[in-house]
Amino acid sequence: MGGAMRHHWLLLGACGWVLLILVFVTKFISFRAVDDYGERVGGQSWTVPAHKVVKALPVSSPEKTVPKWSQPDQPSALPTEADWQWVSDKRMELLSSVCDNSSLRNLTHVPISKFVLDRIFVCDKHKILFCQTPKVGNTQWKKVLMVLNGAFPTVEEIPENLVHDHEKNGLPRLSSLSPKDITHRLSTYFKFLIVRDPFERLISAFKDKFVKNPRFEPWYKHDIAPVIIRKYRKSHRDREGAASGLHFEDFVRYLGDAEGRQRLDRQFGDYIIHWVTYADLCAPCEIHYSVVGHHETLGQDAAHILKAAGIDQLVSYPAIPPGITRYNKTKVETYFSGISKRDIRRLYARYQGDFNLFGYPKPDFLLN
Ligand SMILES: *[C@@H]1O[C@H](CO)[C@@H](O)[C@H](O)[C@H]1NC(C)=O
Ligand SMILES: *[C@@H]1O[C@H](CO)[C@@H](O)[C@H](O)[C@H]1NC(C)=O
Ligand SMILES: *[C@@H]1O[C@H](CO)[C@@H](O)[C@H](O)[C@H]1NC(C)=O
Repeated sequence: MGGAMRHHWLLLGACGWVLLILVFVTKFISFRAVDDYGERVGGQSWTVPAHKVVKALPVSSPEKTVPKWSQPDQPSALPTEADWQWVSDKRMELLSSVCDNSSLRNLTHVPISKFVLDRIFVCDKHKILFCQTPKVGNTQWKKVLMVLNGAFPTVEEIPENLVHDHEKNGLPRLSSLSPKDITHRLSTYFKFLIVRDPFERLISAFKDKFVKNPRFEPWYKHDIAPVIIRKYRKSHRDREGAASGLHFEDFVRYLGDAEGRQRLDRQFGDYIIHWVTYADLCAPCEIHYSVVGHHETLGQDAAHILKAAGIDQLVSYPAIPPGITRYNKTKVETYFSGISKRDIRRLYARYQGDFNLFGYPKPDFLLN
């Protein structure tokens, strides 16, 4: 009958729409996964099959020279796994000596607040804690932990939308546990975080949140940017024309304003995780992390972390698109080129703790 036919066609039409929407959604999501590394690259490079890092011959014994790979702009020499243990040990020695430096105290020491405990994800099955820092491939780490928790057999099988659904992904935050359980885990579990060059990180956050992402996270452009512009843009005339959006200069002035920004940060809530210091996110002087990985050497660090946590036989870190994590000095110079030395020095003063704690060289090329 005609009625039944119509019904069928309507159903078919509806299915078509659902399919279209699904295709759109998955396209968007796979972009985000790549973007999580901090750079937008073609979606297809994500599908490049995993390639093993070719081990180059160590140039010389690491004790004699400053290792090339510890300098963010020269990550070319690839060390062996034993070398990497050495790199990791050196980083932890540096971290603890900077924590002990009393002149940097107010930049390095933060209380283990609920804000910090909210950043830390728990894998009880393998006794691992992971402090999440944005724009360093942390979606991939969450997937690794989800596999370890037994919810999925491999990283590839985890649907993207589930990773960020903290109700359903089976990865509890440390803040959800009782004080006794928190203390126990902090003192006995394997703990790690990933960091990157602090200024490059801020550029990445600026680009991602204020330049290219307004459609899916409109609050950065519509709620946060106007507040920063009103307070920090120099020219009144420009302030009226805030439609042009947040400039990197406005952002730098806001970030470098140690006292003035406190009220704004409270108003912005958890969105500030994209630009507050690593010290504020993960309390690295209060929590004794086992390993601090560097984004610039993520390939080596991921392998080292899996091994140090005793899980390298159980899971592997997803392939990292080549070149994507490398420090780009040209980019940093370009972004800071129009900004006054005074503003850059104030920014550095605010982020100096992160530079020192994690061994990133002071960016003299911007400051002098
Ligand atoms: C503490 O940090 C300051 C600032 O970076 C530095 O000048 C000083 O030498 C450090 N002190 C020690 C004992 O390392
Ligand atoms: C940290 O303390 C020093 C003085 O010891 C002060 O000059 C600086 O402004 C403080 N920095 C912050 C971020 O509070
Ligand atoms: C570094 O950044 C500059 C400016 O953003 C860009 O043109 C260049 O392609 C980047 N270099 C690499 C190796 O990614």
